Amino acid sequence: MVARRPLVAGNWKMYGTASEAAALARALKERLAGVESVDVVVAPPYTALHAVRPVLQHTGIVLAAQNVHWAAKGAFTGEIAAPMLQEAGCGAAIVGHSERRQLFGETDDTVRGRVRACLDHGLMPILCVGETLAERDASRTLDVVRGQLDAALDGLTPEQVLRVVLAYEPVWAIGTGRTATPAQAEEIHAFLRARIGTSFGAPVSHHSRILYGGSVKPDNIDDLMAQPDIDGALVGGASLKAEDFDRIVRFRGLTPRP
Ligand code: 13P
Repeated sequence: MVARRPLVAGNWKMYGTASEAAALARALKERLAGVESVDVVVAPPYTALHAVRPVLQHTGIVLAAQNVHWAAKGAFTGEIAAPMLQEAGCGAAIVGHSERRQLFGETDDTVRGRVRACLDHGLMPILCVGETLAERDASRTLDVVRGQLDAALDGLTPEQVLRVVLAYEPVWAIGTGRTATPAQAEEIHAFLRARIGTSFGAPVSHHSRILYGGSVKPDNIDDLMAQPDIDGALVGGASLKAEDFDRIVRFRGLTPRP
């Protein structure tokens, strides 16, 4: 058994002005002091990165962006490049979120470019994959997530893949209150891990962290984290409430509140 360090990431989506985000970060800093056994990441909106950065200094909480462009610079109006994020204090970026894929035309090719941009500029990519309800109902879940995974990691070395954090987020579970059951999530996590093993070797698959995302809440995190292939969570709505996010980070009593 390989001990993978758990990781809990909060995706704040398009919630929070800079001052609101800084206030949430301050609340998290206070609540999460003393948590050492879990990696914690927060992804505020771009405009709040500069306000949140000083709050998180010396806390161990990693600042992340919600997306990143594939080019280092260029005529791409409205986009943000990896070197900009790095200088803004980010250590990670979410890539390929289903809201980007569904609402903003993100494709497997652009996702691959964004993963590479992260790796080239010292950002940890949090790569999201997941099926829609129609795809699940048509029994296409495994094909869909395998296709998304293979496309995003195509051409990477095993060493690069080790720096990628994967997030399985079934689209039907995002923001719906309808979580995948722990067994449903575990099935896909185990499948994704096996696929990484086939493509990049067993040591990589054993060390790769795979997060679950989709209506993760204080009352379901413990059962999810009890699954052998679930290494953490990518949390949307519940990450906007410091108390709830704190409870999720302290899943299964791993790090009790003092
Ligand atoms: P919810 O936790 O609000 O369902 O969102 C999940 C998500 O999309 C995280 O990236």
